[in-house]
Amino acid sequence: MIQLSDITVSYDGSRILRGVNLTVPEQGLVCLMGRNGVGKTTTLKAIMGLVRTDGGTIRLGTTDLTSMRTEERSRSGVGFVPQGRDIFPNLTVWENLKLSLVLHGPHEKGELDRVLELFPVLKEMLARKGGVLSGGQQQQLAIARALLTHPRVLLLDEPTEGIQPNIIDQIGEALIKIKQEGKISILLVEQYLDFCLTVGDRFYIMERGAIAEEGPIARLNDEKVRKLLTV
Ligand SMILES: Nc1ncnc2c1ncn2[C@@H]1O[C@H](COP(=O)(O)OP(=O)(O)O)[C@@H](O)[C@H]1O
Ligand SMILES: [Mg+2]
Repeated sequence: MIQLSDITVSYDGSRILRGVNLTVPEQGLVCLMGRNGVGKTTTLKAIMGLVRTDGGTIRLGTTDLTSMRTEERSRSGVGFVPQGRDIFPNLTVWENLKLSLVLHGPHEKGELDRVLELFPVLKEMLARKGGVLSGGQQQQLAIARALLTHPRVLLLDEPTEGIQPNIIDQIGEALIKIKQEGKISILLVEQYLDFCLTVGDRFYIMERGAIAEEGPIARLNDEKVRKLLTV
């Protein structure tokens, strides 16, 4: 379980996160939503230690991550797929996966096969350069790489952004399978409401650097809640 308590972050003296409180339980998928610029990406970066927090605590289970370096957080079990395509374009799909395997061993027998089962399209593309894959395939490769780092919690930043609908469905199916296996919980930053309704269990909505609303995913359909998401 990941628990953020009263997290504050500033850029150049202006406060961007103003006391974020958020919990991702041991199992299931939590959607973090909100308009552009409210602080969703900054929240994920704060969890990873990629931005400095001015206050508050971040815990993973009983481990206090707050003052750990990014690598230690990663080793403690936080996996992060940043916005965009976090792969090596000049390495093949296989080499991209292999790097994760080498850097985050030891691995169980068959672990790579199980990850590839989640993203069958990658199996057919192992010899291709990452850079020639479609945006959606690169996103799947980025998620596959993150899964090979043995996360307890996976942070995903807008994985559907700019991606074709059929691949969004494939990513959704993979996330649902990961959920069903019950070993990894997911914090998904997402602006695509229907995707959240399909894969999510709970939601948080941010406004100007703090949580404005939270609840079970079905409540995302409430008019009041939807108002917080419309531009
Ligand atoms: N490196 C940075 N330096 C200064 N301001 C930033 C930086 N990154 C983000 N911001 C500002 O912080 C706010 C929150 O950004 P972000 O967390 O990326 O929002 P979201 O992901 O919700 O769209 C925005 O106003 C953005 O302009
Ligand atoms: Mg963002």
